[in-house]
Amino acid sequence: MAQIYSRIIATGSALPERVVTNADLEKFVDTSDEWIRERTGIRQRHIAADGETTGDLATQAAQRALEAAGVKASELDLIVMGTTTPDIIFPSTACLVQHRLGANGCAAFDVNAACSGFVYALGVADKFIRSGQSKKVLVIGAETLTRMLDWDDRTTCVLFGDGAGAVVLEASSEPGIYATCLHADGGHKELLYNPVGVSVGFKDNEKNHGVLVRMAGREVFKVAVKTLDALVEETLTAAGMHADQLDWLIPHQANLRIIEATAKRLSMPMDKVIVTVDKHANTSAGSVPLALDYAVRSGKVQRGQNLLLEAFGGGFTWASALLRY
Ligand code: COA
Repeated sequence: MAQIYSRIIATGSALPERVVTNADLEKFVDTSDEWIRERTGIRQRHIAADGETTGDLATQAAQRALEAAGVKASELDLIVMGTTTPDIIFPSTACLVQHRLGANGCAAFDVNAACSGFVYALGVADKFIRSGQSKKVLVIGAETLTRMLDWDDRTTCVLFGDGAGAVVLEASSEPGIYATCLHADGGHKELLYNPVGVSVGFKDNEKNHGVLVRMAGREVFKVAVKTLDALVEETLTAAGMHADQLDWLIPHQANLRIIEATAKRLSMPMDKVIVTVDKHANTSAGSVPLALDYAVRSGKVQRGQNLLLEAFGGGFTWASALLRY
């Protein structure tokens, strides 16, 4: 039987209208534009309006991807969504988006892998297509992470933003996705986490006014760089490729210094690396598909080019995909 590949046929993204610059943050956080830019590369972030949800951003991104693909929502047979900030606990945000798109009847579920959520979702969708189970799949990464930030904690609140990206995948006899690598190590939970869930601390939290992200930034940084080094090597091996065959690195946009370290490991010059962290900050599962959509719509990424997508996040989780666009 001929090999089935999954191919990205189109991309889409959505950002909240409100832009908050580092200078805006200086007014209510003990920080400076210079500190944020030098340590992270971030200049601004988009923040969801009151009442604007992860599902709203995901739906917009999905509609743009479907429109660019020329695919009707009713043709989809699967929706997989990476998010760690769902609209409500259940139904999944994938189900809420499915209904709004009018894709009723197809399978739809969320994947929670924090910042690696989109790349995890892409890996899952790829398996559904390769197995022959699905032909047209919508993969989304969307977050409103700023909703769970502690605005009194300057070590975390300056780093994140909100946003969403989506791709339409289609079964094809041509590559497509060559390889995906998905990993996790729950042993690092306390370096980057949100301590509250339905089963832990949920009721107590009503008194605590908020569900807040906690992070040991310096330790996360060190593990991220080391882990991503190994991940890109593993992905190249899995795809049977060399770094010099890559046209673009499309990394998770958490910190410019982490991105530069990965590019260096691959001997890729920064002009072959898609960087949006300056404009979007860390949008968690939204980050890779936002960067991909920016790269496609700005004309940087062209059909036939090889792209390496990678992400690292809470869990820890880490994941990659090497594909021909
Ligand atoms: N503004 C100004 N100063 C700040 C600050 C802020 N927003 N946040 C921290 N500082 C201060 C610290 O208090 C510390 O001061 P001290 O030396 O007087 O104690 C100093 O800056 C250095 O802090 P440190 O945490 O050592 O800085 P760093 O160089 O490690 O940079 C991060 C901090 C968070 C930017 C960096 O560690 C990082 O990016 N880590 C990875 C985080 C990440 O990507 N998480 C998501 C993964 S998906």
